[in-house]
Amino acid sequence: MSGWGDAIRHEWDLDPAFLTVNHGSYGATPRSVLAAQREWQGRMEAQPVRFFGREAPAALRAAAARLAPILGAEGDDLVFVENATVGCNAVLRSLDFSPGDEILVLSHGYGAVVKAARYVASRAGARVVEARVPFPRPDDDAVVAAVAGAITRRTRLAVLDHVTSASALVLPLRRLADVCRAGGVPVLADGAHGPGNLDLDVPATGADWYVGNCHKWLCAPKGCGFLWAAPARQAGLHPVTISHGYGQGFVAEFDWTGTRDMSAYLAVTAALDFHERLGGPALRARNRALAAEGAALLAGRLGTETGSGNGATNAMGLVRLPLAGDPSRALAFRERLLDAGTDAPVNAIDGDIWLRVSAQAYNTRADYERLADLVERAL
Ligand SMILES: Cc1ncc(COP(=O)(O)O)c(C=O)c1O
Repeated sequence: MSGWGDAIRHEWDLDPAFLTVNHGSYGATPRSVLAAQREWQGRMEAQPVRFFGREAPAALRAAAARLAPILGAEGDDLVFVENATVGCNAVLRSLDFSPGDEILVLSHGYGAVVKAARYVASRAGARVVEARVPFPRPDDDAVVAAVAGAITRRTRLAVLDHVTSASALVLPLRRLADVCRAGGVPVLADGAHGPGNLDLDVPATGADWYVGNCHKWLCAPKGCGFLWAAPARQAGLHPVTISHGYGQGFVAEFDWTGTRDMSAYLAVTAALDFHERLGGPALRARNRALAAEGAALLAGRLGTETGSGNGATNAMGLVRLPLAGDPSRALAFRERLLDAGTDAPVNAIDGDIWLRVSAQAYNTRADYERLADLVERAL
C-alpha cells in the first residue's frame, strides 16, 4: 500500500486544526473500525438475550483466533481484557506472595502497573525492587546487566516493559526473560505498545504472561487489550472480576466477567483488516523509521539529542528538550504545547525533560517540522 500520510488521514476523525503526534498514549480509531464496532452494538441491542447467549461467546473466540497470528500465538492462549492495566492486574492479583518476597520492576516501568505491583506486594508483606534502566540510548547488554543485578533469591516475579512508556525504549525482552528464567523468576511482560508497532512473536519472547493493547497501534476501539498466558501458566490465573466462569478454565473465566459491552473486542477484526490494508509489516516498518526521523529532526532543530538509538526502534521516538527540571516542569510544558495545538507528551527522566513523538500512518515528516516550530515557540 502506498499513500500513507496525507492520503490516508481522512480515514480518521482527527481534528485537522490540531497536530496529532501522540498516537502512543491512547491510539486513534479509524472510521471504518468505529463503524464495525457500532454494528456489533446494533446486534447486541437488537436481541440482547440471543446476542449474549448465542452469538457473543463464539464471536469472541473468533476474534481471539483472528488476533492470534499477528502475535505468533494460539487463539485459546489469549483472552481479551479492557486494557494493559487490567491485564497486568489480573496476573499480579492471581499470584501468591509471602512476606519478604520481591517483585522486580523497571525504573522506566509504567506508573500504573508499578502501583499495582506495590499494592499486591504491600498486602503480602512483600516488596517491590526497581532495576535501574540506563538512559539515554542504553545498549541491550547494559539493560540485561541491570535486570540480572536486581534479581535475588527472593525475587518471585519480574514485570518487564517491552516498549517503555515515557522513554519509548524497546527493551531486549527475550534476553531479559532468559536471565529471569535462569534465576527461576517468571516474567510478566507489559507489551502495551507491542501489537501493531513491533513485529511480534509473543511465545518467543520467553515471557510467561504477555499483556498488550490493541487500541494503541492496531487502531482498535478504546478498551481492547489482551492477556496471553503460556499454557503452563493458565491454571490459577483469574480475571480481576470473578464471575460465572470461575473454575472453568482460563478462557471461560476471562470471556465472561459480567454483562458488558464487548464491541471493542469484537471490532478487533476490523482493526486488523485496516492494519493489513495499510500494509501490515510494511506500515509498522514505515512508522518506526518515521518516528526515528522525527526525533532526529527535532534533536537537530533544538540542538539536543535523541533518547533511543542503540536498541531496536519503534513507532515512538524521544528527544531531549533544552530544559532541566522535575515532573511539574515537564507537565507545565506539556500543557503549554497542548494550548499551542499539539499533544506531544513531555516527561522528566533523570532530571532532564524529554518529548516523545509518535508516528502512525496519518503522520508525515512535515508534522515533526511543525512540531519543532511549536516547541521552539513554546520554549
Ligand atoms: C508500558 C505501558 N503499560 C501500560 C499502559 C497502560 O495502558 P492502558 O491505559 O491502555 O491500560 C501504557 C499506556 O501507555 C504503557 O505505555
